Amino acid sequence: MKILMTTSEAVPFAKTGGLADAVSALSLALASLGHDVRIVMPRYYGIDREKLEALEGPLGVHVGGGEEWSSVYRSRLPPPHGADEQGPEIPVYFIDHEIFFGRDGVYGTPSEPDFSDNPRRFSFFSRAVFQLCRKIGWYPDILHAHDWPTALVPVMLRFGEKTDGFANTKSVLTIHNLGYQGVYSKESFPYTRLPWDIFKVAGFEDWDRMNLLKAGLVCADRLTTVSPTYAEETKTAAYGFRLDGVLRARSADYAGILNGIDADVWNPRKDPTIPSRYDPDDLSGKAVDKAALQKEFGLPVDPDIPVIGMITRLTDQKGVGELFGASYGSAWSICADMRVQMVILGSGEKWCENELRSLASRLPNLRATIGYNERLSHLIEAGADFFLMPSRYEPCGLNQMYSLAYGTLPIVRCTGGLADTVENFDQETGDGTGFMFDDLTPRAIYDTVGWAVWAYYNKSELIGRMRSRAMRKDFSWVRSARKYADLYESLS
Ligand code: ADP
Ligand code: GLC
Repeated sequence: MKILMTTSEAVPFAKTGGLADAVSALSLALASLGHDVRIVMPRYYGIDREKLEALEGPLGVHVGGGEEWSSVYRSRLPPPHGADEQGPEIPVYFIDHEIFFGRDGVYGTPSEPDFSDNPRRFSFFSRAVFQLCRKIGWYPDILHAHDWPTALVPVMLRFGEKTDGFANTKSVLTIHNLGYQGVYSKESFPYTRLPWDIFKVAGFEDWDRMNLLKAGLVCADRLTTVSPTYAEETKTAAYGFRLDGVLRARSADYAGILNGIDADVWNPRKDPTIPSRYDPDDLSGKAVDKAALQKEFGLPVDPDIPVIGMITRLTDQKGVGELFGASYGSAWSICADMRVQMVILGSGEKWCENELRSLASRLPNLRATIGYNERLSHLIEAGADFFLMPSRYEPCGLNQMYSLAYGTLPIVRCTGGLADTVENFDQETGDGTGFMFDDLTPRAIYDTVGWAVWAYYNKSELIGRMRSRAMRKDFSWVRSARKYADLYESLS
């Protein structure tokens, strides 16, 4: 089948979160099953034009009352580093438009987190997707959109674009995070070039504003999200971010398909970025990595102290208030009461970055690096004993799967993809791959970390067995890609 991924992010070109990993890895896995998969995304300022191939001629895109002109560049998805063989060819098309994308930031900047012209930027991009296909004479069977930035693609397909080569094209919209919906003033609606009379039927209406994701959820032929548990949760008021009703109404067309991980990049057997490689039968290399991690973060190098790692966006979704909130967060008492070391890598909300700096200056056993750092993220996954992820909600979550692959036992709240990938420790049988709790409270985090630390000191043999078991879990993308392929085929 011919599949076009329409996305605002894809590694290695642009990434703000797991969406970028998921889109590229899913594309690679689908291509390895024999499908013709291509990706289209904006050419942001940071993506060097010199390294891309320019397509001849401009691309005219009808938006607002006129036409915008852009150029198109082309590249291909590189095979994942460390891959043994050349992967399948996946063309990536870049829509270049200086005014919309020639600036820092994908959706915004620290001082302006949501660019005020985002509805225009992504209306333009969504329209450009159709023009691109016409230009290259390649019409997909499936247009696969991801999250609010490309949610207009299924809407445009249904209302107006289903002509010429698109007559048989079907659309799929994947929710990676329901917390971001792209809600803007209705004044931007005419820019989409969709007629006003569809505003309500297409699902845009949101308390007199325009909700891009909601319209996509109403108009796409099929909906998916990134784990089965999150698919169920999003149909409830507690997790639905006001769209639970829409999702309930579409539940026959809505499924959860778990993300995979890229086993060429996240694999302790061959990870070139970590000091020592290891496998489930011999974890001695992990001890070397632990020492390197402790050294890197300026902690005493001690093989017997459990190290708890975290790599995260510092935002409410990730439970950072309950963990790091001044005076009530549990990180302080965890580090003060328990014989542990904590290493945190993250960036995000300013209050939280400041709080982390302050905790690190007062606690000898807590270290934080504020920023984004791929190499350090691999070292933490390899060197830590436990990985903490107390998410308020988690559509899928990649880090707990990376942790399992590296034998680093996740301590997680039982929600979304965390519930679908981690199995709780059973003290009687020794079963499980991690430690889980239900309520997002500082107390529950404290108790569960305490439980893991207790097991580390008192049940070391069971912990060793859990590590090997975790490392043998299969989270390969191919399994998930088959489910997407089945879904696409059911539409044709
Ligand atoms: P989300 O997309 O909600 O942030 P995921 O767990 O799905 O959560 O994906 C997060 C991705 O971003 C992972 O690949 C993770 O390693 C990476 N990541 C997050 N913060 C950092 C950071 N500060 N440095 C390096 N990688 C990070
Ligand atoms: C989102 C979610 C995360 C998921 C990722 C990729 O960023 O927050 O849970 O893993 O998308 O699907």
